Amino acid sequence: MTLAFCATTAHKPIAPVSWNTSKGEVVLLDQTLIPQQVVYRTVATVETMVEAISTMVVRGAPAIGIAGAFGVVLAAQSALQRGLEGSVFQEAVVQQALALRESRPTAVNLMWAIDRMLATLYKLIIRHTPQKEICDSLLVEAQLILDEDIAMNRAMGKHGAALLPENARIVTHCNAGALATGGFGTALGVVREAFAQGRCAMVYADETRPRQQGGKLTVWELQEDGIPVTLITDGMSGALMRTLKAQGSGVDAVIVGADRIALNGDTANKIGTYNLALVAKAHGVPFYIAAPSTTFDTSLANGEGIPIEERCGTEIVGVGDSAIAAEHTVVWNPGFDVTPADLISGFITESGVFQASQLPQWLAQQPVSLT
Ligand code: MRU
Repeated sequence: MTLAFCATTAHKPIAPVSWNTSKGEVVLLDQTLIPQQVVYRTVATVETMVEAISTMVVRGAPAIGIAGAFGVVLAAQSALQRGLEGSVFQEAVVQQALALRESRPTAVNLMWAIDRMLATLYKLIIRHTPQKEICDSLLVEAQLILDEDIAMNRAMGKHGAALLPENARIVTHCNAGALATGGFGTALGVVREAFAQGRCAMVYADETRPRQQGGKLTVWELQEDGIPVTLITDGMSGALMRTLKAQGSGVDAVIVGADRIALNGDTANKIGTYNLALVAKAHGVPFYIAAPSTTFDTSLANGEGIPIEERCGTEIVGVGDSAIAAEHTVVWNPGFDVTPADLISGFITESGVFQASQLPQWLAQQPVSLT
């Protein structure tokens, strides 16, 4: 894919995933510790990367795709260091790539990135490329995935900001920011660009139970950039829309990210997104999904087939170390929900803003997805 780099919107750089060239390791910003601590962890093995993705040290659809891509580089480096050759080398890398691919189920960016890395691997093997060169080329490919993601975020920022009036009030859910991507953000990329253009007066961040990505990550990241943000709990968006309207202003848009979007526009995103879309519909507030082409799963006609991650119930029965429910409470803890396309006003992508009905035509023009 070729994508022109847009003019830079100034913001404090946040790099959730990067490569340490001198050490040959991945560096992850530990998102389980923000905002109390800003700690970078080095990841030198595929096993550690699988653990980091599944425990959400790195999280957010594009960010886990990028982390997975660098994980494939670690797999190839390890096979090289163990002196593996030919089909044994290939098999070792593929096995580890598949473990990375399965480290979280819902965000399709992870599968997309691993498949792109494997396609690169197979191309190099067919050409009888020496193992050391394979490692170097895989690193170039992973870095390209990261750079392209940031470029797509910036393009989405421009397209999305153009939808907003001056001094807009925007509601968002979860964290679809620099932390969740290569480093600028999808929904928060639109917010960043809108703020730079004087089009964003306030962001209302849903706390996002149970992991609190909104309260912990979105608020921190927007504060870092001096963007006004107000924290609300997940159940407050209806009251917020009604109250602001009564005061003569109102919410101008809801903008969220996505983990997997089916061909018809049905969209999986963090649990609670569907409720927010219903509230927005009831109040006549436009509800936008900001997501790059890498978040679309063209193999799915609609959202019914999207695999929804179920996480451990302990995430719900406690807050931090404090229990908030009776012992033996039965819980259901899906990490994501699916918002039907008819609740979505538009999809903000790197190529422009589309209605659900326009997606198949646009997606047909994208490079073939291997998922
Ligand atoms: O469980 P998480 O924190 O990985 O979920 C993240 C989300 O749902 C984000 O909204 C989504 O990945 C979009 S990120 C640009």
